[in-house]
Amino acid sequence: MKADDISRIGVIGAGLMGHGIALNFALGGFEVYLNDTTEEGLEKALENVRTSLDTMIDVGLADESAAAAVPSRIHTSASLADSVADVDFVVEAVFEDLELKREVFALLDESSPERTILSSNTSSFMSSQLAPATKRPDKVVVANWWNPPYLMPLIEVVRGPETSDATIEATAGVFRRLGKRPVVLQKESLGFIGNRMQFALLREAISVVEQGIATPQDVDEVVKSSFGRRLAVAGPFEVFDLAGWDTISHIIDLLFPAIESSPDSPALIAGKVERGELGVKSGRGFYPWTDEDVDAFRARIGRALAEIDRLSREDQEGR
Ligand SMILES: NC(=O)c1ccc[n+]([C@@H]2O[C@H](COP(=O)([O-])OP(=O)(O)OC[C@H]3O[C@@H](n4cnc5c(N)ncnc54)[C@H](O)[C@@H]3O)[C@@H](O)[C@H]2O)c1
Repeated sequence: MKADDISRIGVIGAGLMGHGIALNFALGGFEVYLNDTTEEGLEKALENVRTSLDTMIDVGLADESAAAAVPSRIHTSASLADSVADVDFVVEAVFEDLELKREVFALLDESSPERTILSSNTSSFMSSQLAPATKRPDKVVVANWWNPPYLMPLIEVVRGPETSDATIEATAGVFRRLGKRPVVLQKESLGFIGNRMQFALLREAISVVEQGIATPQDVDEVVKSSFGRRLAVAGPFEVFDLAGWDTISHIIDLLFPAIESSPDSPALIAGKVERGELGVKSGRGFYPWTDEDVDAFRARIGRALAEIDRLSREDQEGR
């Protein structure tokens, strides 16, 4: 299976990620076969597709005519076997539960054509844990999208020990056709790349607050007003190439011993969870949240991501 031969996509699990992935492929001109366990779940997913599509139109990432074609390209079914009977590429996006995913991979293997590549959007499991559930370990690959999948360009493609080069090339290739920016990891790694780095930052942010150096609000302000601004256009190796590695090496010697390296779960977060301060879902985390606040915050992030996307496409085209 080559990237250019892929035209029919199965998406298994139509929740937060699955509906957005289905939308992204449908907008890109692919025929999408979307599966979940119930008809009601699928109806809800189609409503979510419409809402997410409106967001894309609002922020200028989809035009009305491209959007009009989306509903006719998403075919829903509560039967997994029917959904994948004639697809070229599958995205599995069911709950993050290894046993469930292994059951789903066994069913996918039984029900889809031999040519079909089976990808998993898992956040934490490895191809080597999923591939043994199938008779095609060479065609099993982890491909981790970021939320919201129709706005975030990165997909981390993680090869397992048995994943073939052809599978990796076709997987990265089909994502590139969709305008995504796949990054292929050379070996399996817990947290892939993005979450390892995101959680390293989170550990230090929590430590700064726990040590009484700054409030959570001030930590957020520091990130947004300084290096956070650069991160969308320049990664750490680019940034510090500019600064000069001799200077950075001195700072590393001073700072690495001072920054947080504890493997323990921080008391600050355990306390939040105990008090039910879970974030937007309970109306309070480090900030108080009303429904209006959440909508406004999501809209602000959506607009900013769309603007960054536009700038980065212009940059790539060399304008
Ligand atoms: N939420 C995120 O930010 C995010 C980001 C990257 C990756 N992921 C990963 O994506 C996957 C899905 O996460 P989500 O946030 O969309 O979860 P979700 O709970 O919103 O959706 C999961 C969907 O899978 C469906 N499902 C469960 N069992 C099924 C089965 N046997 N067959 C078909 N459908 C089934 C559920 O009904 C539900 O609609 C997980 O592996 C998660 O780790 C999530």
